[in-house]
Amino acid sequence: MLVGMSAREVSARDRLARLARDADATLAFLQVGDPSLSRELTRLADLGCARVDLVGVSLGTLAPAASWLRRIAAHWWRERGPEAPGIEVASTLLTDLDGLDGVRRDTRTITGTEAGLRSAAWEEVPGHRHQVLLCRGPRCSAQGSDASAEALVLALMRHGLGDDDVLLTHTACQFPCNQAPVVSVQPDDVWYGGVDPVAAGRIVEEHLVHGRPVEEQRLIRAIVR
Ligand code: FES
Repeated sequence: MLVGMSAREVSARDRLARLARDADATLAFLQVGDPSLSRELTRLADLGCARVDLVGVSLGTLAPAASWLRRIAAHWWRERGPEAPGIEVASTLLTDLDGLDGVRRDTRTITGTEAGLRSAAWEEVPGHRHQVLLCRGPRCSAQGSDASAEALVLALMRHGLGDDDVLLTHTACQFPCNQAPVVSVQPDDVWYGGVDPVAAGRIVEEHLVHGRPVEEQRLIRAIVR
């Protein structure tokens, strides 16, 4: 099974589906996309699969580490119980779609001793001062929100802004699709349209670092009284 690790791979679903078909594999997603990894594992187990090989796919800079694939798969495996199929997880993520055979050579077996899905560090709502909502709906995805996402992440890193400063959240459609790609910044209630990578960098530097919204990109929100 190929497993897209981030929203970036959801946007590349057609390419991944072709690769999966050629490799006689199925396709699932760790987050955002359907089917989820857990749902696809359940489907294969219900079909009687005795063993599932997982290869995580990362085509950009947004994917979590390969260890998350093991962690989520191990959670499913423990929940499924003694009837669960064996699961092998590729040790490295597939970043070049021509390299599938090489990545599949080095795998580790899920044993059930992997870390769980809870941590003391995830108990509380983070103390962020801004939440940036980046639309990954169908219209925004078709008009470059994947590149906007990468630009936002890289700009936040460049300015040393972590989750406790700015919480970046990928969303479904936020409605002003004609203005794609759309980004909104809360709690400032500032909405932006046409957020290409350059605009994304300006939003981080001017709005999130210096507190000055980027007026040229700004959308006017209708107020319901
Ligand atoms: S798809 Fe992004 S606003 Fe609708």
